[in-house]
Amino acid sequence: MDINPAVLDTARRLVAEGKGILAADESSPTIKKRLDSIKVESTEENRRNYRQLLFTASGVEEFISGVILFDETIRQKTDDGVPFPEVLDRRGMIPGIKVDLGAKKLTNFSAEKITQGLDNLADRLEEYRELGARFTKWRAVITILGESVPSRFCVEANALALARFAALSQEAGLTPIVEPEVLMDGEHTIQRCEEATLGALDAVFNRLREHRVVLEGILLKPNMVVSGSDCPYQAPPREVAEATIRCFRRVVPAAVPGIVFLSGGQTPEEATGNLNALNQRGRQPWELSFSYGRALQQPVLTAWRGEAGNTAAAQEAFLHRARLNSLARRGEYSPDREE
Ligand code: 13P
Repeated sequence: MDINPAVLDTARRLVAEGKGILAADESSPTIKKRLDSIKVESTEENRRNYRQLLFTASGVEEFISGVILFDETIRQKTDDGVPFPEVLDRRGMIPGIKVDLGAKKLTNFSAEKITQGLDNLADRLEEYRELGARFTKWRAVITILGESVPSRFCVEANALALARFAALSQEAGLTPIVEPEVLMDGEHTIQRCEEATLGALDAVFNRLREHRVVLEGILLKPNMVVSGSDCPYQAPPREVAEATIRCFRRVVPAAVPGIVFLSGGQTPEEATGNLNALNQRGRQPWELSFSYGRALQQPVLTAWRGEAGNTAAAQEAFLHRARLNSLARRGEYSPDREE
């Protein structure tokens, strides 16, 4: 397949040394939850103010290569009237966009979900390109429950949608971030997470190949292989790194330039510590980086609380987290750097 060189270039720039991605693409219901947690009303203006704080924080461009936006956010502007994608671009951070329309109940599979948003996707991608996006993201959700979930059908249906999304994105000159997320929720062991992650990634790469997606022009955004959040035994970073690398070496082709993990409900410290342990295991075929939402933003929200007077402190909290994750990219983080 002919590939637009910009697709390959963006993929590589997003995983540049020491840098990772800020996921600031919370949908309206999700950002409402985040703002509720600090007792701030989720109005369009409050959401704009909060995102402006993130995108204008000085110094973060040293550690953040790109930012994933939501449909509302990519159309918003700073107080001075500069569109958010332009603010990011001027500061050397690549603007991206979440293009799926959310995970919905998978009919006849009561515990499982299918991500929607393929209808008219080609037209929407054109518009997002014009608005300044250079990469895209699509999230599929895989649940672990009892013996029979995830079902083969759910894994395959989501893999098919991810591959179609990736092919359309590359056709539009945009780098797709392919996100199959095996949820941490549940009592399952780390072994069960490894099995489910292997199965989901295997299905995804089979479908990507069938769709003739150019693997050098995608990034993979997966979960780490971790213990279920209610599992009595919580695997430490060393075990998380061992299981994650084993799993990925079995199933992620070396042609993929980078793996940018989601945080998925890990605390900021856990997400940084686990990324660090992954990068301490020596060179791998792909860059191992981050594309964190909560693990970068939680301390920012707590410091901000919707008060203009707290903006500088909130931006400092963001810079701090971004710097620590950059160290983890090199395997140079240690918990005593937290203070
Ligand atoms: P978390 O890091 O909060 O899991 O968010 C990343 C993301 O973009 C989920 O789609």
